[in-house]
Amino acid sequence: MPAKAITIAQQKGGAGKTTIAAQLAVTFAHQGRKVGLVDIDPQGSLAAWYDIRKMLVDEAGGGITFIQASGWRLATELDRLRRGVDLILIDSPPHAETDVRIAVRAADLILVPMQPTPLDLWATQPTLDMAKKEKSAAVMVFNRTPPKGKLVDAVRRKIIEAEMPVAATVLGNRVAFAASLMEGKGVIETNPRHTATKEIKALADEIAGRMGL
Ligand SMILES: Nc1ncnc2c1ncn2[C@@H]1O[C@H](COP(=O)(O)OP(=O)(O)O)[C@@H](O)[C@H]1O
Ligand SMILES: [Mg+2]
Repeated sequence: MPAKAITIAQQKGGAGKTTIAAQLAVTFAHQGRKVGLVDIDPQGSLAAWYDIRKMLVDEAGGGITFIQASGWRLATELDRLRRGVDLILIDSPPHAETDVRIAVRAADLILVPMQPTPLDLWATQPTLDMAKKEKSAAVMVFNRTPPKGKLVDAVRRKIIEAEMPVAATVLGNRVAFAASLMEGKGVIETNPRHTATKEIKALADEIAGRMGL
């Protein structure tokens, strides 16, 4: 069966798309899945991470096949990749360009990271609308979540009231997520017992459950 795909999308820059794409890719790879990681962001920050990974972890990418694709090649490259891996993760740029639409359409699940603040919640709507239009299931995930607070609870309540889909797992504001990327790794490799690792594993499990993986 061709691999299922997850697209990480959010029009707001800095929401954590690239961080979560790399962290989830490593986490799923550690479960023994062959992971395909796709960067459609011309900024190419995932490519830089993957180059370091090939140098410091393993020449073959440590369980992850990486491709950078955009424009007319994107749909074909995705189809080809689907036949060679178990699961695909697609990182996307912050603007609603054609490529993002293709990636959203191709995905079985759209993961929409957001900081739990009103501005970030409002900024998320266009991405959810796009997912709906392309008939792809979407789920928001709180990222860089402060330890506790009324604001986080209030934002979650608003989301639930609006019957918008939100992951039960939340990711905290943790330097380990960024620091591990410096070494071409994920937190599961650099800090196996860290809270960040528990969080990303829980998110991977929740996603796998939602997608029937
Ligand atoms: N959970 C987190 N905890 C701490 N820092 C984070 C977290 N998620 C993202 N960051 C940091 O936030 C910044 C933006 O993240 P990035 O993944 O590049 O967002 P995007 O791809 O959506 O623009 C980066 O500096 C990254 O290291
Ligand atoms: Mg990014």
